Amino acid sequence: MGEDKTDIRLVDLSDAEALAAHLARDRAAFARWEPAQPDEYYTVAGQSARIERLLDQHGQGRSWPGVVVADGVVIGQVTAGTIIAGPFRKASLGYWIGSPHQNRGHARRASTLLLERMAGDLGLHRAEASTQLENLPSQRVLKAVGFSPYGIAHDHIFVNGAWRDGLLWELTLGD
Ligand SMILES: CC(C)(COP(=O)(O)OP(=O)(O)OC[C@H]1O[C@@H](n2cnc3c(N)ncnc32)[C@H](O)[C@@H]1OP(=O)(O)O)[C@@H](O)C(=O)NCCC(=O)NCCS
Repeated sequence: MGEDKTDIRLVDLSDAEALAAHLARDRAAFARWEPAQPDEYYTVAGQSARIERLLDQHGQGRSWPGVVVADGVVIGQVTAGTIIAGPFRKASLGYWIGSPHQNRGHARRASTLLLERMAGDLGLHRAEASTQLENLPSQRVLKAVGFSPYGIAHDHIFVNGAWRDGLLWELTLGD
């Protein structure tokens, strides 16, 4: 198969149905990597409420919550979260891609597009990310888009019933 086209845009309330469908289908597959959520999270109503919160944070300049689009269809999310201004000018990169669309380079291309926006429109100087030590696909994405690992945060995140260490990643974006 040739390269699929990948685009990103700001999440919209009309994305609730697509996001709920992906997250409900992949609930078990993502449980190893993503924090547990209440049942409501996997419904259109739950995603609508979540998108409202994300857009509210965006309005306050705290995040850039995006969706990943391929061939006009929403296939995942990519987010610049925890934007910190002042002398740091940094944010954390996060993403997921629906399982039928994985391993086609979408996360890599979506991350590159968001990093361009972080360095450009958002005026950020530094990007950070964290992965579990075992999340090799996510680590491949970060390496491919230029991140380097710089340390381990112990007992960093509660996922899948236990506190997990986090591998910390950094990328300097420019001035
Ligand atoms: C991590 C994730 C976003 C990657 O999305 P994707 O669109 O499949 O990513 P890409 O196709 O751009 O790249 C995936 C890379 O992982 C590699 N990969 C896939 N499965 C792998 C495995 N089991 N072991 C090692 N590498 C693997 C692919 O070969 C590819 O690397 P390459 O481009 O160097 O060949 C996706 O798997 C996902 O949503 N996972 C569940 C949620 C998650 O882990 N989120 C991130 C939390 S930090």
